[in-house]
Amino acid sequence: MRSVLSILFFAVLLLVGPGNVLRADSPLEKQMNQMRRSFKELKKAMEAPVEADKPKYLGWVADLKKASEEAKTMEPEKTEKVPAGEREAFLEGYRSKMAELIELTEELGKVIEAGKWTEAKGLIGQINQVQREGHQKYRAEEN
Ligand code: HEM
Repeated sequence: MRSVLSILFFAVLLLVGPGNVLRADSPLEKQMNQMRRSFKELKKAMEAPVEADKPKYLGWVADLKKASEEAKTMEPEKTEKVPAGEREAFLEGYRSKMAELIELTEELGKVIEAGKWTEAKGLIGQINQVQREGHQKYRAEEN
């Protein structure tokens, strides 16, 4: 029994990975994880939206917006790896991509408020796209 437990213990350690055991989430990662939580709920909800649940949806929109605004004030880890002369442009690009996300999120709130579900679904797709672009350009390789 004890050896089974030891094997399990080491298997878990391997899964977690030596790089992750001692590494705390950066403040930006924390905001991003918050964004993931509310966006995941919204994505799921917009597959079969219900008029009566609007207040709940708007709550998630507010959470996503708040976390995105916080994230916009922070710097990606990758910034350090960008040559000094290109850093300001890199950060400007990051902030403007985050601003796009915030704008789309505000728009999402408006169309949900108005019960325009087809438009809401379209905006979920656009947010997905901005997320993909943001991660391709601004997230460090090992993430
Ligand atoms: C709804 C949209 C988004 C969601 C749900 C989201 C979610 C996440 C999650 C869950 C992580 C952590 C993943 C990991 O463990 O590495 C992450 C990391 C990251 N995301 Fe996003 N993201 C979104 C949009 C964006 C956008 C638009 C940008 C850039 C403008 C961006 C830039 C980053 C960066 C730079 C990291 C790495 C953290 C760091 O460098 O400290 N994300 N994102």
